[in-house]
Amino acid sequence: MEKPKRENFSSGIAVFFATLGSALGLGNMWKFPYLVGNNGGGAFLFVYLICVFLLGIPVMISEFFIGRHTRKNAIGAFTELKANPFWKCIGYMGILSSLFIMFFYTDVAGWVYSYVFRGIKGDFNILSSLESTKAANTTQSIFLNTTGAGNSAINPMIWQLIVLVVVSLIIIAGVKKGIEKVTKTLLPILFILVIICDIRALTLQGSKEGLNFLFNPDFSKLNGSSIMTAMGLAFFKLSLGMGTMITYASYFTNDNNLMRTPIKVALSDIMVSLLAGIAIFPVVFSFGMKPEGSGMGLLFTTVPLIFMKLPFGNLLLIAFFFLTAIAATTALISLLEVPVAFLSEELKINRTKSVIIISSIVLIVGILTVHPGSLFGNAMIGSRNLFDFYDFLTSNILMPLGGFLIALFVGYVVNKNTLYQTLSNNGTLNIAVSFKLYQFVIRYITPILVLLVFLNSLQIITF
Ligand code: PFF
Repeated sequence: MEKPKRENFSSGIAVFFATLGSALGLGNMWKFPYLVGNNGGGAFLFVYLICVFLLGIPVMISEFFIGRHTRKNAIGAFTELKANPFWKCIGYMGILSSLFIMFFYTDVAGWVYSYVFRGIKGDFNILSSLESTKAANTTQSIFLNTTGAGNSAINPMIWQLIVLVVVSLIIIAGVKKGIEKVTKTLLPILFILVIICDIRALTLQGSKEGLNFLFNPDFSKLNGSSIMTAMGLAFFKLSLGMGTMITYASYFTNDNNLMRTPIKVALSDIMVSLLAGIAIFPVVFSFGMKPEGSGMGLLFTTVPLIFMKLPFGNLLLIAFFFLTAIAATTALISLLEVPVAFLSEELKINRTKSVIIISSIVLIVGILTVHPGSLFGNAMIGSRNLFDFYDFLTSNILMPLGGFLIALFVGYVVNKNTLYQTLSNNGTLNIAVSFKLYQFVIRYITPILVLLVFLNSLQIITF
């Protein structure tokens, strides 16, 4: 039933890199470290890993099935499967999630872009002549200036605009030329750079404490909200529960192994997050910072300190933020692709126009709401400003809910034979055992686990 008329990725390796390109991003370098820091370290990491294996991988396999079997966007896919229209809510919620995420993600990506620029200007050179505490304070104030919290919000707004222009141009170039080329060439270099950071961080004085914090679980630090955060991070990290992977899989080659690719992607993604953590936490302890109090700035306040006394430190710093910018950009490409595929395929608006429409919405809402000092920059919803609210709503509510529904849909609604045929590439792969395991998890474990975490966070049950 597969209709290879649309543009496709050209090979299995391109599929792997594009999917990894969506997963890798600010989630690894920015979010993972600060959430681990805020939620007490090792115990949080432990729960996060459980979520990746029991929620993330099964949901990714399910999204891959829906996307490649139908070769449609996240809404059209459910029409193609002749499902009850109710299930299209997964796609509509996905479009909402992608917009909400882009509102703040483009802002943070802008901070990263601006760090490349600052590096080139030499803003960090001063660090090498300062002693630890002063250097740590300086990175803190550079960070505040970057986000607009320390002065005016115009700069971060301009960077947000630049990010959106770059992403739009790549995506207008199309699936093969744009997404494939960028991800395949540049992601491996990022990997090498993070390893250089690790080597440096491990030779710092506080490295042992940093590693202890990251890898020694202290379960007393876990509570309902940190468990929910770990679950949300697993969905956010692997770009799940919102149709991104449905959309990407619709461009996959027919021979891709839909059960193996998620495992490879998840393991590579975990590895990059851990390597980022191993680079950052030793610095936190060695420079007398506090992991709990460092918040969103953790990446930006620690990484310059890693490089400050190294030969060619500034050059390495520029390369590091440049590659992080690339990772953020490839993740953004996949975020933008969700609404763009919908507009162009369901509403028949041409691709370029669709990109411009969505980018403009993201830019306008983003600029007006996420910067301190902008029109709604200080507005609060409950105890959260809009930046935090978008983040909370997507990671902790919409994406897990989407994952829950996808699990129910594929576990209970989809014809088992169809599922088997697609996942086994029409019987050419031997997946008898893994298919049974997957079916069990997607029917009984994934939905129940998401439900438990939700009920727990609403304090209906406690654990
Ligand atoms: N996975 C990306 C990251 O960790 O940075 C963020 C992301 C990309 C979330 C694409 C959702 C998505 F659809």
